[in-house]
Amino acid sequence: MRKYILTVTLNPAIDKTVKVPNFKTGKDFREQNLSLSAGGKGINTSQVLKHLGVPTLATGFLGGGGGEYIKNQLNKEKIKYDFCAIGNNTRTSLTILDPRLNTITRLLERGPKITKKELNAFRRKFSSLLNNCRYVIISGRNAVGVTDSFYGELIAEAKKKNILTVFDTSGKPYELGLIQRPFMVKPNLKEAEQITGLKILTISEVKQAAFYFYKRGIQISAITLGSLGAIVFNGQEMLLAIPPKLKRKNPVGCGDSFIAGFIAWHWRKRSFRECVKMATICGAANALSLNPGFIKPGTIQKVSRQVKIKTLKYNSY
Ligand SMILES: Nc1ncnc2c1ncn2[C@@H]1O[C@H](COP(=O)(O)OP(=O)(O)OP(=O)(O)O)[C@@H](O)[C@H]1O
Ligand SMILES: [Mg+2]
Repeated sequence: MRKYILTVTLNPAIDKTVKVPNFKTGKDFREQNLSLSAGGKGINTSQVLKHLGVPTLATGFLGGGGGEYIKNQLNKEKIKYDFCAIGNNTRTSLTILDPRLNTITRLLERGPKITKKELNAFRRKFSSLLNNCRYVIISGRNAVGVTDSFYGELIAEAKKKNILTVFDTSGKPYELGLIQRPFMVKPNLKEAEQITGLKILTISEVKQAAFYFYKRGIQISAITLGSLGAIVFNGQEMLLAIPPKLKRKNPVGCGDSFIAGFIAWHWRKRSFRECVKMATICGAANALSLNPGFIKPGTIQKVSRQVKIKTLKYNSY
């Protein structure tokens, strides 16, 4: 079987996105421009990898009508998947975009509870899927009923098989997973502050945060800063990536797309600088589309001319 990049989404979601001009709490609004897509961080990443022509397979838990919807979407998009079936229904995430006030409001369900039996079935599936993969991307919220240490367990198992892991979550599962020293992390500013304990206000503090992960034995750390870009460090080079100024439609999934761009080019054995550039292109391209993880044809080429990558000097913090 052909090798692939495995993405793990323990708590996928149907992403429901609506545009509501002048949105306010405590008022009724008629639905406008409703759009649905298969979501959850790993799934978003698989969608962008597919767009870039890199083989990917998505796994995690799916159940009920929500799970069926996601499988149908993935079939339509010709994305390979192998999920563990669960008894409860996969959740829906609602994003309300207000194009007038330029705000985003999200309603994120906790998602279905996973039983011990389902978790053990996933352990077996994950272990067998690792046999055919070269990278595993573990991202997003932990599922209800799954211990905080579970992500760490997955990283440790992948490392035993010499598979490069990318890890992107938050809170206690993030702290515990980092102990296993994944290959790459991609915290946004808030997540980086939570882990490092730093208050990050200046470029120098972002550099310090990137160095913090390196000191903990993580080879690549990308601290992403939304529309301002990212600082990415591989222990030798520290790069500042500057995306173009654009009129964003929806920033949800920019981080997932950033990971996809980086790993797709790493898979293709491109230089560190080229990987950072592709990551930044994909993050920006995602911001231009309504559905997370969806990149319109032609956008990569258009955005690529406008991304700038600069080398930064740094200290050993
Ligand atoms: N408005 C924007 N314009 C251009 N590029 C953007 C914009 N927002 C994000 N990006 C690109 O995408 C990257 C990741 O974005 P961000 O820091 O928002 O990730 P995130 O908070 O992890 O997102 P998510 O978790 O929803 O996927 C940024 O480093 C940047 O390169
Ligand atoms: Mg993120």
